[in-house]
Amino acid sequence: MATGNSVALMIDPSPPRSDFAMPWDSPDETDPVVGLTEARRQLGDTFAVESGGVTYLFTFGEAGLRSFYAVEERVASKGLADYRMLVRKLPDELFVERRTFAHDLFGAEEVQGYLDNLDWAIDAEIEQLGDVGSLDVFDFSRRIGHRLGLGCWMGREAPIAELIPEFEILDGAEAFVHPERSSGATKDDERAALARVEHVVRALLARTDRRPSFLDDIARRWDDVPDPASGIAGDVVLLHIATMTNLFAALAWSLAQVLLHPTDASLEQCAFEAVRLGQRSIMLREVLRPFVFSDGRHEYRVERGVQLATMLPLTNSERLGATYTPDRWSDRSLHRDVAVTTFGHGPHRCPAQRFSVSAIVRTVDRLLSTYTMTPDFDEVVPMPSQIGGVARSATPCVVSYLRR
Ligand code: HEM
Repeated sequence: MATGNSVALMIDPSPPRSDFAMPWDSPDETDPVVGLTEARRQLGDTFAVESGGVTYLFTFGEAGLRSFYAVEERVASKGLADYRMLVRKLPDELFVERRTFAHDLFGAEEVQGYLDNLDWAIDAEIEQLGDVGSLDVFDFSRRIGHRLGLGCWMGREAPIAELIPEFEILDGAEAFVHPERSSGATKDDERAALARVEHVVRALLARTDRRPSFLDDIARRWDDVPDPASGIAGDVVLLHIATMTNLFAALAWSLAQVLLHPTDASLEQCAFEAVRLGQRSIMLREVLRPFVFSDGRHEYRVERGVQLATMLPLTNSERLGATYTPDRWSDRSLHRDVAVTTFGHGPHRCPAQRFSVSAIVRTVDRLLSTYTMTPDFDEVVPMPSQIGGVARSATPCVVSYLRR
């Protein structure tokens, strides 16, 4: 449990301490961006938070961010910090003995294959949309994202419509989109959904009329196991959960902003700018061995168990403002600026960046060339409780469309 002096025990010298509580520990904490902005205004760029018995060292200044992104996994682990977040929502057994990781997905050759799947996914969704109607940008982006991801990881023969509700139950993002709901979760629903995905994987692997897909690559990693379906399903589920975390919402932000603010900038620049503004992510690293963390002003000896932390919405608008200006991304040095984060920096930067940007650009381009789209909303409002990933929208973002 937290005690008054545990910051002093865990971090030396002791930084200023905020009484902010992490939202998974305190249902009263309704908007972490507001709470942390206020703490920073009072205490400066580096301060400690104690919440739920854990000591967090938040850092927001440029030198502190540089140290944060440079830290090696064996010293302070992103994997362990992410696991602790996701396991509030997902069954523990899902994290045991994984054999396929997101880094395995994104070689140059694979990305080309995925883009073919993307065209297939867009065609299917456009067919569903028909000639005229209206859609919610965030709901639509989820549908297309599911179809793209599951088509890529499981092959186009996968019964995608049947799988989507299972993945909605398994959505790990719930742990940080609605952190206040995560305490007391039984995980029974998630276990049942996992079992149904395993059943689908088993049936799919038994089919002889399937075209080769990434599912076969995953299956090869399990070919020494007598009944590999559960291992293969676990790999597929975690890959798709990683896809759901950011890509669906980033696509929605990109489409929404392009519709609200037509521009001559490239769609790639639009995607980076939309992600900059939409980022709602906390970044965490769990200290595995005592080490010295420098924020440029102080050197802190940090003990094992401390969570190093920063939160992107606080820094992403600081220097560049909150106005949507996509052509600022013609300055390539922005991608290396640690005070502006879209896909991360250093050893943990996103392995799926190229895939994700291509997917966003292609989808937005196809939609805009197929339809005249008119937004029936003025802005995208981030879900206030969210403390991870790209923001989900707090209000509907409805668009009417008419085939050109
Ligand atoms: C527009 C969409 C996306 C955005 C904005 C995004 C953003 C990020 C960011 C900011 C990080 C760094 C996190 C940190 O330093 O703590 C990251 C890492 C990561 N992302 Fe993405 N991501 C996207 C799409 C995806 C997709 C589609 C996948 C997987 C299928 C994925 C898998 C990962 C993984 C596995 C890491 C951790 C890498 C490591 O620890 O070495 N991301 N992403």
